[in-house]
Amino acid sequence: MKKVALAYSGGLDTSVCIPLLKEHYGYDYVIAVIVDVGQPEEDINEAQKRGKELSDKYVTIDAKSEFVNDYVFPLIKANGNYEGYILGTSIARPLIARKVVKVAIKEGAEALAHGCTGKGNDQLRFDLIFRSTDMRVIAPMRELNLIRKEEHKYAAEHGIEISADKKWSIDENIWSRSIEGDLLEDPTFIPPEDIFKWTASPEDGPDAEIIEIGFECGIPTSLNGKALDGVKLIERLNRFGGKHGVGRTDMIEDRVLGLKARENYEHPAATILLKAHKNLESLVLTRNELRFKEIVDSTWSELVYQGLVIDPLYDDLNAFIKSTQKRVSGSVKLRLFKGRAGVVARSSPYALYSKEMVSFDDKTLDQKDAEGYSKYHGFQARLYKADNQNL
Ligand code: ARG
Repeated sequence: MKKVALAYSGGLDTSVCIPLLKEHYGYDYVIAVIVDVGQPEEDINEAQKRGKELSDKYVTIDAKSEFVNDYVFPLIKANGNYEGYILGTSIARPLIARKVVKVAIKEGAEALAHGCTGKGNDQLRFDLIFRSTDMRVIAPMRELNLIRKEEHKYAAEHGIEISADKKWSIDENIWSRSIEGDLLEDPTFIPPEDIFKWTASPEDGPDAEIIEIGFECGIPTSLNGKALDGVKLIERLNRFGGKHGVGRTDMIEDRVLGLKARENYEHPAATILLKAHKNLESLVLTRNELRFKEIVDSTWSELVYQGLVIDPLYDDLNAFIKSTQKRVSGSVKLRLFKGRAGVVARSSPYALYSKEMVSFDDKTLDQKDAEGYSKYHGFQARLYKADNQNL
C-alpha cells in the first residue's frame, strides 16, 4: 500500500490535496496530520471532521506547549522580527513539518505532502524539513500550478464544501494570525474591520490599563504578579491586548523568492511581550552587548523567516542569545491604550543603572571629571573642522 502523510489544516488547499494525492499521484492511503499550534478550537474540530471524511486516517497532535517553549520563547529572547513585523507563521512551520515526518515514519509512509503554493515562503519551510528525510516530497498546488479558482472547482467536484465567508487566506497559531489574499492583494485596499478577529478597533478601546509582566532569563513567567505557564500567559495577553486593539500590522513584506506581498497580522501578545522584553534588555545588557545582539537578532530572524532552522548557524546564534539572557530577569509595566502598548516602568536585580550617578540631584559623581573626557572627545573631528574653518 502506497502511503503519504499530509500536513493538514482543514482549509481549501490542504483539503483539495487529499483527493489529488489519490487521483493524480496514485496514493492509496492518505494520512492527514493536524498539528495543533493554537489554532481556534473550531478550526481543529473542522479539520478533524473533514480529515475523517476525506482521508484514510487523521491524526491530531497537540503541540501547543512545545511550540511555546521551544519556538516562541527563543523568538522572544531573539526579539524575532522580519522587516519590522514579529515572526509568526514562520516560527511554527518547522515544528509542524517535524510532526508530520514523525507520523510518516511511524505509519510507514513513503511520501510527505503539503498544500503550499509555489508563491510563498511556507513551501520552503516545509520542504527543507521534509527533504532532510529520504521520503518523496509532494506539493500538489505548486506542481500542478493550481490557482484558487481551480481549487474551488475541484473541491466542488469532490464534495468538499468551503464556506463563502472564507475568502481570506488565514494562518493562525497561538502567537499570531496572518490574513492575506483576495482584495487584500491590492496594496491600496484599506482592510475592512471584519478581517480582524483577535483585536478590537483601536478607537473602540476601553480606558487605559497598566499590566505588569515578569521575566526570568528572557522568558515571560508572570502577568500582574501571577505566575503562568507560557500557553496561558500568551492566551491571556492576546485577550488583554486584543481588547485594546494592540498588535495590528499592515505591511509590504519581501518574501524569500523576492516577491513583495501585502500582509496583515494581528499579534497582541507578541507585540506586548517583544516590547517588554526589549525594554528589559536595554536595562540589563551593556551597550556593547546590545549593539552586537541587534546583529545577532536580525540574522536569527532572517534564518527563521527562511525556515533555515537546521542551519548550524541557528544553534550558534541561539547559544549566544541564551548566554545574554542570563540577566534578563525582572519586571516591566506597560500601558495599553487604543492600539498602543507603551512601556511605562521596568526593574531588574541585574539593572546596569545607577540612579545616583545619573541623577541631576546628586553629587556622587563629580561633574568636573567629565571635562577631561570632553577634551579628547571628537579630537580628530575638531582638527578636521579647524582645517576647513567650516563649523
Ligand atoms: N507572509 C507570512 C510569512 O511568510 C505569512 C504567510 C501566512 N499564510 C497565510 N495563508 N496567511 O511568514
